Amino acid sequence: MKNWIQEEYKNRIQAESVTDADIGKQLFFAGWAFRFRDQGGVIFIDLRDRSGVIQVVARKELLGEEFSKAEKVRSEYVIGVYGKLSLRDADSVNPRMATGKFEVIVEKMEILNSSKTPPFALDEFDPSGEEVRLKYRYLDMRREELKNRLILRHKLTFALREYLDSKSFLEIETPILNKSTPEGARDFLVPSRLNQGEFYALPQSPQLFKQILMIGGMERYFQIVKCFRDEDLRADRQPEFTQLDMEFAFVSEEDIRREIEAMWSFALKKVFGLEIQTPFLTMPYQVAMEEYGSDKPDIRFGMKLVNVSEIVKNSDFQVFSGAVAAGGVVKAICVPGGANISRKEIEDFTSWLNRDYRAKGLAYMKHGANGLESTITKRFTPESLDAIAKAVGSKEGDMVFFGADSLKIVNASLGALRLKLSEKYDPPKANYSFHWVVDFPMFEYDDANKSWTFLHHPFTSPSEADWDKLRDWKAGKNVDLSSIGAKAYDLVLNGTEIGGGSIRIHDVEIQSLVLEAIGIDPESAKSKFGFLLDALSFGAPPHGGIAFGIDRIMMLLTGGQSIRDVIAFPKTQKGLCLMSEAPGVVEGKQLEELKLRVINI
Ligand code: AMO
Ligand code: AMP
Repeated sequence: MKNWIQEEYKNRIQAESVTDADIGKQLFFAGWAFRFRDQGGVIFIDLRDRSGVIQVVARKELLGEEFSKAEKVRSEYVIGVYGKLSLRDADSVNPRMATGKFEVIVEKMEILNSSKTPPFALDEFDPSGEEVRLKYRYLDMRREELKNRLILRHKLTFALREYLDSKSFLEIETPILNKSTPEGARDFLVPSRLNQGEFYALPQSPQLFKQILMIGGMERYFQIVKCFRDEDLRADRQPEFTQLDMEFAFVSEEDIRREIEAMWSFALKKVFGLEIQTPFLTMPYQVAMEEYGSDKPDIRFGMKLVNVSEIVKNSDFQVFSGAVAAGGVVKAICVPGGANISRKEIEDFTSWLNRDYRAKGLAYMKHGANGLESTITKRFTPESLDAIAKAVGSKEGDMVFFGADSLKIVNASLGALRLKLSEKYDPPKANYSFHWVVDFPMFEYDDANKSWTFLHHPFTSPSEADWDKLRDWKAGKNVDLSSIGAKAYDLVLNGTEIGGGSIRIHDVEIQSLVLEAIGIDPESAKSKFGFLLDALSFGAPPHGGIAFGIDRIMMLLTGGQSIRDVIAFPKTQKGLCLMSEAPGVVEGKQLEELKLRVINI
């Protein structure tokens, strides 16, 4: 037989759903005891459920024997309460609570479960560190911050599904246990018991499968899907993360960009009330690298990188002239109002840029009353100092920083310095800025491995105009592979890459050439992607697509510091789940079944 409270579950209403129309009604609430005050004979409990908090009042005079239940309530006890919704006295209304003018006068109540004292307070003021909150993720989830982010995340993926369904996209699942998909990261491997010595690779993305879906005639596909990459983790990288993955048949790059802009306009308006301007600005990769030193520039503020190589290449300052003579560059950024940056700060920047970006130094000049001045200015002619000031647009009170090295090091280090200095000297002028980066090169030279590699992935189509270059390269002619363009595009939001995609190769000859150019010979191409090459030769339609990092988008839109803030059960920087303590050792028997042995190195 059910007791009274089990009978009430179906009538339960959420704390913050009550309105004036409910005043005087007898209602049933269930949730957690958030805060409580015992005033001798009267106990006030803030009952919290997913919607929020409402005050319930237990009075001894009304409850008699039952009052002892209220006396037993402690923090995070689970309670069910039946009582009349009333208006509080005018002087006890709490304007900080959404339900601050109401209280529930308890007529019946039960303690449904007790709780140990939580290791941290669940209110907004608790300063506990992330570690303890990750270990007790279920308690952190009871706090407003994480709860609201998870609710918004649900709303976002729901809105995206709604939109995509209305545009005839099909959500189709693709395998998790499969062969490696090359996206540039390391694979997570899963040993196969049934095929000993063989391994599945968890997908870095569903790239090949979505292309096969196009070849299979599905025409428009999407999936909100987990992807797995074993790479060094950072604030915006998790070993498993979620993509909104999409693919379209019979489209141009522009078609995809317009569809994507419409999709984000719809979803962000619906979920966050954001009006975003479309079409998004489009910036060539070359310009992004040249002016911002990054392929995902934050364009909400200035301090652009300016190439001053020509001005300084003949100066007496060996650091600059030597860098240009060695085939490198000298670039500068002007920090508005930065003349007061102290020597100590500059030393700190210098060692940070050296440690993280291998920059050998950080030359600087202040723009004073008489133009640029510093210990190194005597090595330059007054004309070249004027020319530098003019090129970077400096004025009195500004600071100019210089990087002199290979283009790669200068771009990376000044690009990073620019981001670091923005908040203090040149704050972003917009909350959200979406823009496309386009016209990527197809290949880049990997100095470490002494071979050519891809920028996006090897299924991206080279620009048609460059197909002959590939054929010439194959024929043994001297071709600079870095001059081959790719039909690829990234979407950047506030300096974070939130999505990337491309028009794909649908021609088996070009696909084989691209694989060869990055050192995958026909034999290994066949063993790695034989199924794709096969499929391409059975009437593959022209197709293209894109994938978005849902975690990153959520982080940016909810002001999180890391994508951990928008993931229910994230991993730490070292790939650990502090709650379940994964990864863990497995039993000898399991290893035996897999015919695996762990070697202690
Ligand atoms: P790409 O590798 O650019 O493209 O990934 C798409 C988007 O996924 C997000 N992302 C990540 N988010 C969190 N943690 C990670 N470790 C991580 N890695 C990537 C980024 C990125 O923009 N198959 C192609 C897409 C395509 O060509 O259609 C792909 O996966 O926001
Ligand atoms: P040095 O001649 O090595 O004493 O350096 C003089 C100034 O040039 C210092 O401010 C250094 O930080 C700076 N500097 C040295 N190497 C570089 C470099 N590769 N790029 C930019 N500045 C540099």
